[in-house]
Formats: sequence, structure tokens, C-alpha cells
Amino acid sequence: MCGIVGYIGKKPAFPILLAGLKRLEYRGYDSFGFSVLDGKKPFLFKKTGKISQFEQEFPDPNGEIGIAHTRWATTGAVTDANAHPHFDCKKEIFLVHNGIIENYQEIRNQLIKEGHKFNSECDTEVLSHLIEKHFRGNLEEAVRETLREVKGTYGIAVVSKRDPQKIVVARLSSPLLLGIGQDEFLVASDPAAVITHTRQVINLDDNEIAVLKPGNFFILKEKPLETIEWERGEAEKKGYPHFTIKEIMEQPESLENTLKGRLLINEGTAKLGGLEAIQDKLRKIKRLNIIACGTARHAALVGEYMLEEYANIPAEVDSASEFRYRKPVLDKDTAAIFVSQSGETADTLAALKEVKQRGLITLGIVNVVGSSVARETDAGIYIRSGPEIAVASTKATTSQIAALALLTLFLGRQRDMALVMGQRITKELAKIPELVKKILEQDVQIEELAEKYKNFDNFMYIGRKYDYPTAREGAHKIKEVAYVHAEGCRGGELKHCELALIDENFPTVAICPSNSVYEKMMSNIEEIKARGGPIIAVATEGNEDIKNLVDDVIYIPKTLEMLTPILALIPLQLFAYHSGVLRGHNVDKPRNLAKSVTVE
Ligand code: G6P
Repeated sequence: MCGIVGYIGKKPAFPILLAGLKRLEYRGYDSFGFSVLDGKKPFLFKKTGKISQFEQEFPDPNGEIGIAHTRWATTGAVTDANAHPHFDCKKEIFLVHNGIIENYQEIRNQLIKEGHKFNSECDTEVLSHLIEKHFRGNLEEAVRETLREVKGTYGIAVVSKRDPQKIVVARLSSPLLLGIGQDEFLVASDPAAVITHTRQVINLDDNEIAVLKPGNFFILKEKPLETIEWERGEAEKKGYPHFTIKEIMEQPESLENTLKGRLLINEGTAKLGGLEAIQDKLRKIKRLNIIACGTARHAALVGEYMLEEYANIPAEVDSASEFRYRKPVLDKDTAAIFVSQSGETADTLAALKEVKQRGLITLGIVNVVGSSVARETDAGIYIRSGPEIAVASTKATTSQIAALALLTLFLGRQRDMALVMGQRITKELAKIPELVKKILEQDVQIEELAEKYKNFDNFMYIGRKYDYPTAREGAHKIKEVAYVHAEGCRGGELKHCELALIDENFPTVAICPSNSVYEKMMSNIEEIKARGGPIIAVATEGNEDIKNLVDDVIYIPKTLEMLTPILALIPLQLFAYHSGVLRGHNVDKPRNLAKSVTVE
């Protein structure tokens, strides 16, 4: 989704902006643009398409101040004119924006009446004209007045030839951080864009305006410095052909990081520093709502099963995009848990605001440190997966499930989970990274399987209990990266509808580890087999019998039933990845999708 980078310092701005935009490409975009103040005539370049298509023709503007943007179209088609930066009538004020100006039409009509000439259909353009209208010599004042008139969400960066030695930035519900370097400052919508320059950042809060000047900067309120914990190289491919496969392969380490220092095996519980301050309040909680979008929602569904079975707390998963529009019954004993890799998903944030208004306890399960969900929830658990660049989430998902298992231990041991049960879960969790490593060794076989099945255009994924969410996520993954139609279905529901789809051209991936619902899954597999559907089973090592029933088997090691989804997801991620590559798709940046969906 849209990305912002800005630079002010002593070096030529353009190469820094270009490098920053490239580090934001993973978010998905359809057009991009730059504006650099080069003393006399401001430089402006904006185009639809990918940056790499134009790199040869980029001019080399002078100037140490500039802003840049990748756009993912919402209001207005994908055209050069609608790309950012947007500018005023005199082409003296340039602005990039993430978010949506909801009342843009009304403002635009008014400004047109006042004589302003618009160049695009994009909602953002009203901001540059409003700033022009309010400009009386000081850019931040004009920005402040402008923002009072708009409704919606924004992260903006503005430069102007008329007040040239500064970048003015502001945010409301759209992430923006300042990178604080040695005699240079950056602004970006995502830490990935600043990390090669500095790890010292300040995350802007809603309604804050900051002014970056060549030697200093100020915000309207004092803010503490935070440190990005990611290593520089983590956001690079490290020899892998795609971020997707790099991130799949990183899961032994990312899971290790999620669990590090948090498993108290003797006490049979989890040490979660982020929850300690509110542990007494959590003891009184009687209900949980888990709210998330996309893949994070599938991790949340696994959490629902775990929290009910082992912490004995009724739990319900909501799609963040639906939550505000139904009438959720939330009483004071309910806590809401927000699961989000980015911590910036607009729907998740909107649901969080709604819950906060009702005065409930809010918890975040988040990857990006300092993100909006992390800052706006009362307490939480960082999943510590490191930067996830590929649009389709993989390593964050398994870490989200591991974090939900830690939460289950924490809340369960506050309630009636027996010490021995807590010890069993902690011991099994500790083994998970090693087990994941073993599964990853089957990459070549799974690639062969993807080759064998590459001509099928439809897949059914089935699972029961903990592996129903696994089936949903397996289907989600192959849709995202291979553009293959897939359905994720509860094994028990098949005969009520989806069985009608099954024939020899509609293969099924059946997640059927040896657990409490194994026999039931076998009946579902029989139902499919009787209709001639090819079947790939994900089964527990040692289960030789299953080979007689299905066409192909992928084995995963034995673990606790509640932790099986972490293991079962690994081959499904690999299968989706290889299917996408074999079909020739850009697996890291699937068409029409974005990494961080910052609009509703
Ligand atoms: C987008 C991404 C998905 C992701 C979802 C939720 O749709 O393409 O991969 O699962 O957003 O993102 P979050 O950052 O909140 O986990």
C-alpha cells in the first residue's frame, strides 16, 4: 500500500529517496513519484508502473530536500496525474499523502469556485491547494490550518519552494516516523525505508505535526527516541530468489525469537513482560474477542481454540472489517486482543478505537515495534519475527500462533490450568523451532508436488478443530501467491455443500495429523475419494496407513494438538510458494494486494 519517504540533510536527496522507495516496493504499488527542491526550479517526476521500468531515464536533480511516494490507488484511477506528489496551482508546494481525505469532494468544489485549477482526480490534491490557500509565509502554519478542515486519515510530507528549508510532516491514523540521523533527517511510512541511514526513530502520534530542517527538527510535543531492533540485512533477500521463500525458511529462527526468554518450564507458564503491569486485571477477564484481518485472522482462529480449551475463557474471533458494523455485545469483563503483523491495518485500528471507546482492556499481538496497534493497546506481546517484506504473511503467522500459545499459558495458569499441563505445553513449545526446521528439509519434495499439481485450477483444503484455521490459511496462501482458486473448509461441513465441487479435477489438501479428530478426518477423506477427487494429506510421521487412502502425503512431526497448526502451515506455505513460482507470478508482490492495508 502507499509508501512515503522524505529526506533533508547535506547529501543529494534523490538517490536516498530512490533507495527508500525501493525498500517500500514490497508493500505493493501502482505508481510512484518524487519531488526535490533544487534551489531554482523544483524537480517533479511521477509515473504509473514500477520504478525499475524508468530507472534508466531518471534525471539527476540537485537538491538536498525531497519527498517521494509509492501509490496504491484508492480514489482516482492509476494515472501519472493521480500519482503523488501533488502540487498547488503555481507548482510551488508539493505533497505526498497516505490515507484518505473523506470530505475531499466538498473541499474540491469549494476550491474550484475560488479559482483553483486541479490536475488530477486524486483526493490528496485538495491538500496541496488548501495549503496554498492558507500559506502566509510559514509552511507548518499553512499545514496546520489545512488539516483542521479535512476529515479522514493521513500521513503527509510537504515541501515548498516558498518556505524551502524544511519538510513538514503530520499524521492521523496513518503511520509516519522520523529517522534521526547525523545532520540529516528522514521521514517514512515504514521503518524499512530509513533503516540503512539510522535506527533512531521517533514514531509520530496522531494529530502531531513535525518540522524537519537541515540541522534540527521539532515536534509540537517532546517524544522519546526509540530504537529499531531489526538488523539491516533482515530486510534483504540474503541470496534467496524471493522474500517469500526467505521468510518461510526463516521460521526456525523467527519462532525461536518469539519464544526466547518467555518459557518458564518449571512453573509451566509464560513470562510475558508486556502483560505484567495488567496481570491483575487480566485475572478477572471472563471473555475474549480476538480481532484481526487476513492471515492474522487465521492465527486468531487457532488462538480461539487454544484459549477456550486450555485457559477456559470463552473466545470469539472477529474480522476487523465487520466488527464496527455489527453490534458486538461487549461487557466490562471482556478483553479484546488485536492480532496484526504490521500493527497498521486500518480496519484493525478502527476496531481498536471502537473497543477503547467502550472502556475495555485491549491487548496487541504485533510484529512491528512502535506501530499504531502496539502503541494504542493497553498491553501486548511483540511476536519478534523481524521484518516481513513479502506481501503474503508466513513467518509472522506462525509466530502469532506461538504468541497466542504463550498467552494461553499465561491466562490458563492464572486460572485452572494444572501445573503438569502448563509444563507439557511449555516443553512442546520449546521444541517447535527444531521441528519446523525438519519440515523445511522437505522443500524439494514439496516443490515436486507443486509441479505435479500445477495444472489444477481449483483446490479444496480441509481440516477440523485446530486445523480448520490451517485449512483456511492454506487456501488463502495459494490464492494470494498462485492466483489459484481454493476453498478452506471444515472437514465436517464438506457434505453440506463443498462435496458438490469434488471430481477428478478438484484436488483436496487434507490436514489430518494423528489427533483427537483423526478418525473424523478419515471419513471426510473417504467421502472425497469416493467422488474421485485427488488427495494430498498432511499427516503425522509414522502414519503409513494413510498412503493407502490418498495420492500424496506430506509428513509433519508429532506435537501437541494445539501446536499442530504451526507445523502443518509450513508445507502449505511452501506448496503455495512453489505453485506461484511455477505459474510465473510475482510471489512477493501479488497483483492487486498490499502488505499493509492502511485504508478501510
Ligand atoms: C493484508 C496483507 C495480508 C495480511 C493482512 C492483515 O491484506 O496482504 O497478508 O494478513 O493485510 O495485515 P496485518 O498487518 O494486520 O497482520
